[in-house]
Amino acid sequence: MGHGSPEFTEKFGEMLKLARSAFKNNNGSQFAFTGSGTLAMEASVVSTVQPGDKVLVLDTGYFGQRMASVNEAHGSKVAQLQYPLGTHANPDDLRRKLREDKFRVVFITHVDTSTAVLNPIKELVAECKSAGAFAVVDSVCGLAGEELDFDRLGADIVFTASQKAIAAPPGAVLIAVSKELLEYFQKRAKPIEGWYLNLLRWKPIMDDPKMYLATPSVQIMLALREALLEVKEEGLEERWRRHSALAQRIREGLQRMDVKFVAEEGYRADTLTGFTIKDGLAPGVQKELRDVHRIEVARGLGDYSGRMIRIGHMGILNAEQADRTVRAVDQTLAKLGAAASVPA
Ligand SMILES: Cc1ncc(COP(=O)(O)O)c(C=O)c1O
Repeated sequence: MGHGSPEFTEKFGEMLKLARSAFKNNNGSQFAFTGSGTLAMEASVVSTVQPGDKVLVLDTGYFGQRMASVNEAHGSKVAQLQYPLGTHANPDDLRRKLREDKFRVVFITHVDTSTAVLNPIKELVAECKSAGAFAVVDSVCGLAGEELDFDRLGADIVFTASQKAIAAPPGAVLIAVSKELLEYFQKRAKPIEGWYLNLLRWKPIMDDPKMYLATPSVQIMLALREALLEVKEEGLEERWRRHSALAQRIREGLQRMDVKFVAEEGYRADTLTGFTIKDGLAPGVQKELRDVHRIEVARGLGDYSGRMIRIGHMGILNAEQADRTVRAVDQTLAKLGAAASVPA
């Protein structure tokens, strides 16, 4: 299918409409690009931040740190609120920080995939809004699996990627942008410096996908459209409920084993669960699950790669698969003697 063919451009337009429903974005603009989640991060930074602007990053793990690093690469003056591994970003800290200093943008991670912490985005975004800062939310590991209503949330950007709870192949990102931020793009003192990553440049194409700016990956966009149709068929609220029920089922199963959850209670994500095991044994556990049980899990990132296991339970998953995963983890931990919890 040609990228400029009526057949494709119509389907691309349909995909954007489905994306609007998945974000609950009726008021803002909706964008889609070929690329991975990090492209959405960088497009958000390049379009929103003018070099030299002060920005605040809520660092609750690896992906918060990446957000800071992307900002630094583009000349932002970055301040951070850093949280110990497994803890959430606290809205009271944010309020205090925003009283002390003025920031153009605050960057928030919805679910930090490195720790499986779910941040309280409603409260955090509300603090940004009352302080007059733009709020950018990374929901790569949240959207379509965790509750999120773009219009009601009031964030200026929420972005996600195709490969997580939407359950499409990797290779596409979706970005929702508020009306207010889009107006700001037009009246910035310094125009947006990026070319491909300049959201304003893409606005006419998103409004009329028949126009050409650069070639999207046709196959990935078609796959994304199919996955978003499945989200619609299931119903967004029903999908959130399913994720929540399965997450609870998996956590209850794991609780019966001698493991320690990384994320603090009350802030555990419905899209994935992370727990610690005996140091050094995570590679063996991962291999056993892959080779013997044909179940793919991730290890921790950075310092935690030897002692953390992360189970992704987002996208298309049912109770039988959840139970099978818990049983396989139980057998594997017992077989390898890995189940002694260690402090996170
Ligand atoms: C929360 C979060 N943000 C950003 C990213 C980066 O996305 P990508 O690897 O698709 O570039 C990821 C990837 O897992 C993520 O989980």
